[in-house]
Amino acid sequence: MPIGTTITEYIIEEQRQIKTSGDFTSLINDIVIACKAISSAVRYGSLVGVLGTADTENIQGETQKKLDVISNSLFIKRNEWAGHVAAMASEEMADVYHLPSQYPRGKYLLVFDPLDGSTNTDVNGPVGTIFSILRRARDAVGEPTEDDFMQPGDRQVCAGYALYGPSSMMVLTTGHGVNGFTLDQRIGEYILTNPNMQIPEDTQEFSINTAYLRFWDPPVRRYIDECLAGREGPRRKDFNMRWTGAMIADVHRVLMRGGVFLYPIDRKLRAKNQEGKLRLMYEANPMGFIVEQAGGLATTGTQRIMELQPTGLHQRCPVILGSRNEVERIISYHLEAQ
Ligand code: AHG
Ligand code: MN
Ligand code: MN
Repeated sequence: MPIGTTITEYIIEEQRQIKTSGDFTSLINDIVIACKAISSAVRYGSLVGVLGTADTENIQGETQKKLDVISNSLFIKRNEWAGHVAAMASEEMADVYHLPSQYPRGKYLLVFDPLDGSTNTDVNGPVGTIFSILRRARDAVGEPTEDDFMQPGDRQVCAGYALYGPSSMMVLTTGHGVNGFTLDQRIGEYILTNPNMQIPEDTQEFSINTAYLRFWDPPVRRYIDECLAGREGPRRKDFNMRWTGAMIADVHRVLMRGGVFLYPIDRKLRAKNQEGKLRLMYEANPMGFIVEQAGGLATTGTQRIMELQPTGLHQRCPVILGSRNEVERIISYHLEAQ
């Protein structure tokens, strides 16, 4: 049985061609191992007692699942020792994670959502890990602080996600297109199965939690109303709707066959003083980078996500991303409403 291109081979080939460092290759390898370990924990589920809630809350006041805590710790343990990372930040930790003193400090900052869509673990639905790699400023000294992480998404060196669905996949960009790898359980390696992923420019599928319809702003309401009006409406075509409850799975579907994913700001979020639901550093920026690299767009409605200047690790923002022509239309509805 021939083995296809492994993710390690792919990264080493990139290292040769675009002169990334060996450090970077090693860092990706450790991330890959962490994701394989999380994939395994997710897969064994009830058999190994990892399902259910952990009886703790994270910094955002969300009840943690046992698997949120396990995934967070697997990701940290795998990435803290090798000397490639300067510090880490996670959706599940209040502050910057400083490496134990015995480990050397590297040049990268690793930011991650250890388990996106974790409530789906209750129903054996898809979940995954999202990560983003930033470079620490060259002249920075001492232990990194939150300030070191406050870089717009445009400065990401790499972004990726591991989706734990019927098969485990890893999707990655270093700013030279997007590639997808599928975990071959027989040999324990991610194999390149989806080279140069491209999001179709047009779509007839949208993804939004319509339970919040009564809270939406007029531009979002207008867009969805027009989709729902179908063939008889101004769009003159029927639309389909999908929502998995895990951004990672919804964005993956958008990458595979086009579509638009929306988690907009709404009246309910504003009442809680939130600027959105999804987190800029752990969710919006990495997914925005991947989507743009696959030919799509990612916006808040009025601003390109990757240009937002972060002001806090756990900052939230509205997210509208996917097929280029649809996202452009939604942006134009926002501009017209201003
Ligand atoms: P997480 O599990 O990391 O907290 O993220 C869940 C997010 C995202 O993945 C999903 O799209 C969204 O929350 C679902 O929110 P609603 O329950 O409001 O639909
Ligand atoms: Mn998440
Ligand atoms: Mn999460």
